[in-house]
Amino acid sequence: MSDLQQASSALRPGPYRVLVVEDEPLMRSIIVQLARSDGYEVFEAPSAELALDIFEREKIDVAILDLNLTSGGNGVELLGKLRDRDQELMGIIVTAYASVESAVEALHKGAYDYITKPFANEHLKAVLRNALKEKHLFQENRYLHHELREKYRFENIIGKSDAIEQIFRMMEKVARTDSSVLITGESGTGKELVARAIHFSSERANGRFLPINCGALPENLLESELFGYKKGAFTGAGQDKVGLLKAADKGTVFFDEIGEMPLALQVKLLRALQERECYPLGSNDPVAFDVRVLCATNRNLEAEVRAGRFREELLYRINVININLPALRDRKDDIPLLANHFLRKSEKSLGRTGMRFSKGAIRLLLNYPWPGNVRELENTVERAAILAETDVIHSHDLPDKLRSPSSAAVSNIDSNGLTLEELEREHIKRVLERVDGDKARAAQALGIHLSTLYRKVQRYRLDEPAGSAGAESAAPRPA
Ligand SMILES: Nc1ncnc2c1ncn2[C@@H]1O[C@H](COP(=O)(O)OP(=O)(O)OP(=O)(O)O)[C@@H](O)[C@H]1O
Ligand SMILES: [Mg+2]
Repeated sequence: MSDLQQASSALRPGPYRVLVVEDEPLMRSIIVQLARSDGYEVFEAPSAELALDIFEREKIDVAILDLNLTSGGNGVELLGKLRDRDQELMGIIVTAYASVESAVEALHKGAYDYITKPFANEHLKAVLRNALKEKHLFQENRYLHHELREKYRFENIIGKSDAIEQIFRMMEKVARTDSSVLITGESGTGKELVARAIHFSSERANGRFLPINCGALPENLLESELFGYKKGAFTGAGQDKVGLLKAADKGTVFFDEIGEMPLALQVKLLRALQERECYPLGSNDPVAFDVRVLCATNRNLEAEVRAGRFREELLYRINVININLPALRDRKDDIPLLANHFLRKSEKSLGRTGMRFSKGAIRLLLNYPWPGNVRELENTVERAAILAETDVIHSHDLPDKLRSPSSAAVSNIDSNGLTLEELEREHIKRVLERVDGDKARAAQALGIHLSTLYRKVQRYRLDEPAGSAGAESAAPRPA
């Protein structure tokens, strides 16, 4: 069976299957009837040999085994043999001798639980139900994990330009290592996508991938999220909380927008990464952790270091390897490929097939400078797919911004001598004007997160003299 078949069969419909192994006929028929009355499909075996026979032929979810099988040994041993064949089998041992040792031995050898005879019918049913619930959770978890792995395979990152091919090669190399990687690039270039792909292709793929957005939380919250806290460390700390660094033990932590992390916290993070342990707020006991660190930023951290806003030592620590994602306008080869990829995705969610772009539409897509990069392209295609009245997406199905003079000016980057930041500022200003200062709409049109827009508006002081938008210039509330 392939991984995927195995994973999806975990969630197959239909009744669970129970095997009852008991040599005493009356007891066997009681247990069988109890299990059947709860709707399970039940198999019965009076001996270990017959149990093994059935097990070879049938997919069994739970086995209920008598501890003392007169013919052919002991239920715990048998459970061991069955679990050698199927590690996910849940075992329940039934014993007349409520000796603590035999019960403990059974649990030790992989039984889920044990029941002593005589038992109340409801008790047996409850133990069986719990065993199956646990099994279901386990399988569901494995299935979801598998889905994630599929979703974030390198193959799902689209691109064939030289620039992106080079990035694929780099990613393959770093996925095999445990080094820190700093992923840089403008907004919407795929930094998080790359981070996830690295994690899910690495040795840590079975561990967790925990992202933290360093720009979205105020300093004190960010600190307690990272390091955790002790009950009573501050008002509202009602109970101990495990920090993210510990929660991601054996996995990967992704520090998104690391450039936004306050300086004081940078120092604490650096120390924690060096010592591989941290102190939860209000605690003097260090907590050890083992995580891989991936970071992303759309700032130039060297410049931030020079400006005194970023700690040089932390930069060295996180920037062992740098993956710099090119802006979409610098790899135009990928635009048609990505546009078609997103069109197929939109088709799927709209329940349509056979959609395509007209030549004119492709030309517009190629000429636009995509300040919001791949995310903006994705949103644009999705919108066009919804609006298009036929299977062909024509240029008039695409938003005006692709035709507007400002976009021509922006694509004329080299000739008019504006810096990228100036262009970005101009572009954002125009979009804001067009939507009457409605930031949610502007963020959508630009293909960037609302929090990113707020930051850019602050940075470029776009809120200041213009009266109408000024009132809402407060920083975004943390999520
Ligand atoms: N090469 C690619 N192939 C397919 N999808 C992509 C690619 N690059 C980016 N995307 C998609 O574009 C969107 C933006 O990507 P992502 O969130 O990783 O960007 P980002 O660089 O983290 O952006 P930001 O700086 O705004 O946080 C996502 O929906 C992602 O799946
Ligand atoms: Mg991101």
